[in-house]
Amino acid sequence: MKSAEVVNKNQDFDYEAAEGEFARDVLHGLSQTCKSLPCKYIYDDVGTELFSRIMSLPEYYPAGCEAEILETYGAVLAETIRENPVNLVELGAGDGQKTRILIGHLINSGNEFTYVPLDISGAAVRKCAKNLRSSFPDLRVRGMVSDYFDGLKWLASQDCGMNVALFLGSTIGNFSSRARAEFLNNLRGSLNPGDMVLVGFDLVKDAELMIRAYNDSLGVTAQFNKNILARINRELGGDFDLNAFRYFSTWDEVSGGIQSYLISKRPQKVRIEALSETFAFEPWEAIHTESSYKFSLPQIRKLAEDSGFETAGQYLDSGRYFADCLWKAV
Ligand code: AVI
Repeated sequence: MKSAEVVNKNQDFDYEAAEGEFARDVLHGLSQTCKSLPCKYIYDDVGTELFSRIMSLPEYYPAGCEAEILETYGAVLAETIRENPVNLVELGAGDGQKTRILIGHLINSGNEFTYVPLDISGAAVRKCAKNLRSSFPDLRVRGMVSDYFDGLKWLASQDCGMNVALFLGSTIGNFSSRARAEFLNNLRGSLNPGDMVLVGFDLVKDAELMIRAYNDSLGVTAQFNKNILARINRELGGDFDLNAFRYFSTWDEVSGGIQSYLISKRPQKVRIEALSETFAFEPWEAIHTESSYKFSLPQIRKLAEDSGFETAGQYLDSGRYFADCLWKAV
């Protein structure tokens, strides 16, 4: 069957409420003694485009390492999930770039599967479905516009095959430890026993290498982080002067993550019209913008166990920088 269908389970999505949530989160974050902004707001259209550029930077090793893993172990993965039929559900599929390699292997190995890009954004799902269908004209694609867990629960109740959820690129590393545990528990709760997930984890390594990945020579990562201020200017009527902030990112051994900040270079006041608020910045005061946690293999195994999964496979690149872990819901 040749089909590219987009199921919108999200017709009730309230865009005004989403805008309200952005405003509320900005107000909350900038009112704290240690100012912070949630990294999810970096990803509007501009931020998503900048992230695609980051993925092809020589310093940003995770992208190349995960591509190597999927290239090397794609056939093994295809054999391991050879259950007919399979829904290959990608959570937050982006442009589908990462998954292209795996899909190629599944097709070559003759697996019967439907690719299900699942995202809250209809535009993202349509773009991903279109991109992949143009590379693989016979690929069965069933895009879903939905919250991750609602979408997975719905699929699990449909008796339409085993679900294999993909959560690649170490996006899990952008969650705090509490949010991570909650996410994995919800993920397990949205699957049937026997369903699987493939999760990408960036591994702890030489600090120099990790720091370099977030401090690229072209300054794309700085621009990516500053997009959150630009977005506040665009959508909430802010008057942030982007040149008055310096991007700073470093490895923090205590938290086990790269921590990224935008630092005010001078004393300044920033007005945000939609909040009817003005925020004062001391010289060298920081806004925390992103945590990118890194993991050890024992820590990953414990995460699987604690959230109701057993490890079915663990695939590393040749430099042992990154791991894609296949977990089975028990
Ligand atoms: C999406 N996420 C896993 C990336 C990371 O490594 O934390 C986002 C990113 N931020 C700066 N560079 C890449």
